Amino acid sequence: MEKVIDESVQGNTLTLESNQGNTRKLYIESYGCQMNFSDSEIVASILSKQGFNTTNVLEEADLVLVNTCSIREKAETTVRKRLEKFNAVKKTKPHMKVGVLGCMAERLKDKLLEEEKIVDMVVGPDAYKDLPNLIQEIDEGRNAVNVILSKDETYGDVAPVRLNSNGVTAFVSITRGCDNMCTFCVVPFTRGRERSRDPLSIVAEVNDLWKKGFKEVTLLGQNVDSYLWYGGGLKKEFEKASEIQKATAVNFAGLLEMVALAQPKMRIRFSTSNPQDMTLDVIKTMAKHDNICNYIHLPVQSGSNRILKAMNRLHTREEYFDLIANIRRILPDCAISQDMITGFPTETEEDHKDTLSLMEYVKYDFGFMFAYSERPGTLAARKLKDDIPEETKKRRLREIIDLQQKHGLYRTQQHLGKIEEVLIEGSSKKSEVHWMGRNSQNTVVVFPKENYHVGDFVNVKINECTSATLIGEAIGYTANN
Ligand code: SAH
Ligand code: F3S
Repeated sequence: MEKVIDESVQGNTLTLESNQGNTRKLYIESYGCQMNFSDSEIVASILSKQGFNTTNVLEEADLVLVNTCSIREKAETTVRKRLEKFNAVKKTKPHMKVGVLGCMAERLKDKLLEEEKIVDMVVGPDAYKDLPNLIQEIDEGRNAVNVILSKDETYGDVAPVRLNSNGVTAFVSITRGCDNMCTFCVVPFTRGRERSRDPLSIVAEVNDLWKKGFKEVTLLGQNVDSYLWYGGGLKKEFEKASEIQKATAVNFAGLLEMVALAQPKMRIRFSTSNPQDMTLDVIKTMAKHDNICNYIHLPVQSGSNRILKAMNRLHTREEYFDLIANIRRILPDCAISQDMITGFPTETEEDHKDTLSLMEYVKYDFGFMFAYSERPGTLAARKLKDDIPEETKKRRLREIIDLQQKHGLYRTQQHLGKIEEVLIEGSSKKSEVHWMGRNSQNTVVVFPKENYHVGDFVNVKINECTSATLIGEAIGYTANN
C-alpha cells in the first residue's frame, strides 16, 4: 500500500552514481512526504556539480544532510534523535559538517544553530540553489543559513537525479507550497505560498523519464488540483495577470491532458487532491485517457461538518459526497483513498461517529490515519486548546483504522476473478519468486515471476486477496509493452 508518509522509507539514504572527479562525500537522509524525497534528488543533483558524490556510509561523509519533516511532532522527534547521532559521530570526525534541510529549517533554525549548536547549516525548501554559497561559508568555518521562502522557485530547471529508483516509477513535482491554510497544518508555513511549475518543463521531464525506460510518473504537489500556470508567479496573484496570460493559462486538467498525450504509454498518477479544488474537468480528463490511472487520493480529515469548518476545509460533508458520486459516475472503476485526523480540538463522540459514517458511505480502498498533533504556529494551535485526551485520540484512531481495514478487504475482494493490467516494479518483499506491481487502482498485486521482467505491463488474473494485496497469476503481456 502506497503511503503519503511511507514509514518503510523514512530515513532512506540516497546513493547517486559516482561522478569521477568528485572528491567529497555527501550523506543525505530524507523524512516525510514524497515531496521531500523528490527534493533530495534535486539537492543531490545540485551538489553533484559541486564536487560531491553520495555515500550511504555515514562515517565517511564530509557533508551530512537531513531533509526534515514537521507535519507531526513524532516526525520532528525522530529527526532530533538523528541529529544527536550525527553530532556524536562528528566529534570523532572534525572535518564533517552537518546541515538541516526542509520543513524544520525555518522553525528551528535558531535553536539548532545557536542554542544547541548541533548543526553547521540550515537550508529551507526554497533555498537549495544557494547551497554552493552556503557550503562555501561552512567550509570557511562559519555557520550558514538560508530559509527564505520564494515566490517563484519551482526547480523547473534542475534535472533531478533519480536515486534509489526501481527504474520504473518516478515522481515529478508540479507545484510547491500550499495556500489552503487548513488550521491544523504546518505546510503553508514551512513550504510557503503556492506556485506552479512551467508545464513545458514538466512534459520535458516526463519525456526524458520515458526515454530512460520509466513507465509511470506521479505528478506531485501538496494540492495538485490547484495547479495553475500563467507564466510563473504565485497562485494568489493570478488575478493580477494580463488578459493574454489568463487566456493561455493551464490548469490541472489541462496539464494532465498534456502529459497524457505526450506519452500515451506512460502511466500517469497524481497526488494529492484536495476535495475543494478538484473539478469535474479533472475527472473527465481521467476518463478520456486510458493512461491516467483510476486512482484518486482525496483526503477528507473528518466526516463532521462542524470539525471540517474548524479545520478550514472549505467543503461540507454533503459536497464531498457529491464529488464522490461524480467520481463513481464518470469513473466507475476508480479507487479512492483518504487521510483522516482523529482528536482535532473539540471533537465529540458525535463528530467521530460522523467520520465513521462517512467512511461507511465511501468505503475507501486505502487510508492514512493520524491522531491530531498540535503544530506550533498553526491557527489551531493559536486559537484552540488541544483538549482531546491522548487515549481518546488513540481509541478513535484504532476504530477508524479497523473500519478502514474492513473496507480495504471489501474493495480488494471486488477484484477477485478479474484480469487486470499490472506494471511490474520489483520483487515481492516477502518472496523472491514473486513479482510485485500495481494495477491502475494502485493496489499492490503479487504473482509468480515466470519469464516476465521489471517494467513489463502484464495481464494478471486475480485469485486471492488480503485487505491490502491482490494475489494472482500472469496470463500474458498487455498491449502496452
Ligand atoms: N496536501 C498534503 C497534505 C499534507 S499532510 C499532501 O500532499 O498529502 C498529509 C496528511 O497529514 C494530511 O492530509 C493530514 O491528514 C495529516 N496531518 C497534517 N497535519 C497534521 C497534524 N497537525 N496532526 C495530525 N495529522 C496531520
Ligand atoms: Fe496542509 Fe491543507 Fe495544504 S493539509 S498541505 S494546508 S491542503
